[in-house]
Amino acid sequence: MAKIRLVVAALLAVLLAACSGSAVSGGGDAAGGDAASEPADGAGDAASAPSEGAASEAAGGEPIDVGLLIPTSGVYALLGEDIRNGFELYLEQNGGALGGRPVETVEVDEGEAAETGVRGAQRLVEEDQVDTVVGIVSSAVALGVRDLFDERQIPLILTNAGADDLTGAAASDYIFRTSFSNRQPNYAMGRWLAEEGVEDLFIIAPDYAAGREQAAGAREAYEAGGGTVVGEAFPPFTTTQDYQPFLQQIRDSGAQAVHAFFSGGEAIAFVQQYQQFGLAEEIPLYGSGFLTDTTVLPQQGAAAEGIRTALHYAPALENPTNQAFVEAYTAAYDEPPTQYAVAAWDAAQLLDLALADFEGEIADDPEGFVTALEGVGEIDSPRGPFTLSDTHNPEQPFYLLEVAPGDDGQLTNIVVEELGSVEDPN
Ligand code: BEZ
Repeated sequence: MAKIRLVVAALLAVLLAACSGSAVSGGGDAAGGDAASEPADGAGDAASAPSEGAASEAAGGEPIDVGLLIPTSGVYALLGEDIRNGFELYLEQNGGALGGRPVETVEVDEGEAAETGVRGAQRLVEEDQVDTVVGIVSSAVALGVRDLFDERQIPLILTNAGADDLTGAAASDYIFRTSFSNRQPNYAMGRWLAEEGVEDLFIIAPDYAAGREQAAGAREAYEAGGGTVVGEAFPPFTTTQDYQPFLQQIRDSGAQAVHAFFSGGEAIAFVQQYQQFGLAEEIPLYGSGFLTDTTVLPQQGAAAEGIRTALHYAPALENPTNQAFVEAYTAAYDEPPTQYAVAAWDAAQLLDLALADFEGEIADDPEGFVTALEGVGEIDSPRGPFTLSDTHNPEQPFYLLEVAPGDDGQLTNIVVEELGSVEDPN
């Protein structure tokens, strides 16, 4: 039964990728097909293979079943696609194996709300009986599934959802994160805005767990640096199509600058409407880097030019791992990678390194596998090497990015300066 689902998931992935113009890489192979086939030029090149110690030799032994819980519908569908791509690329570069063991993946849609995410997680855990789950974009979903993974002792590697408490007050031995906590990029941006003497800030974010936390992170750092927040707005999450009432609120507030968190489809709509409403010429727009990342930038176009944000990754970062990663990813999917793809590639690397150091089955010794995950140490990420904190969150620097034409004339996020790291709050 699980095998049938696997094949269906792989076919769906192929169809989805075909619809979006992306190539499909080795994860599709790992999901039951021919592991020897290449996704596209370059993705399997030795030059782009990850760090030594990763288990890229011929796979053997019982397969590891990995559940991929990602949005394939709704405002975050584009992000889910990037996560799938990043995970599959790593598998492709490693012969479809993690820790020398063949990998079978089952993909389930997390949807847009905690309920849909919980249903998806239950399916993966109870019906498909996966060994581990990778993914989750939305903090609402991640918070909703926390107890399931904690109580069942199934390792969950979050590749986006930044809910602060999951690596803080509600941390679990079984939950790891290769992305960020919501507070981090926003705190970095708020701190920079205050240091620059930017006055009278308006903060806007969608009304759900991540929006509230991202706004709070920006406010905390900005106020600590002496800034004044003149207004805040939280448009309904997933249902707001027309931002005009909120844009009017910003204009009426007398703000000198705006800090925004939106992502996926909402980031495209907000940035476009900010320009159409005439605010782009009146009040500079800043934010956490999801606002203008590579997932949304092509659709935002000129409306995004000049926007400055803070994030832990941009394709332009100069380090050898990133240069090889960008080359392999672009060859495979015909577009530059995002932080979502990086977090998924890093999650695969984390599992690979932990499994290489672990004997037996995860289900038989979940505590032993957590120890192996905790023992991984430095992860050789395209963002630069990073380690996980005691509560399993990346300790990493953030960068000030600006949307500007790159060498090829296309708009991209150029790296302006490093903003330093931000501690987890809890
Ligand atoms: C979140 O829900 O945690 C989230 C979603 C999109 C981008 C960043 C964070």
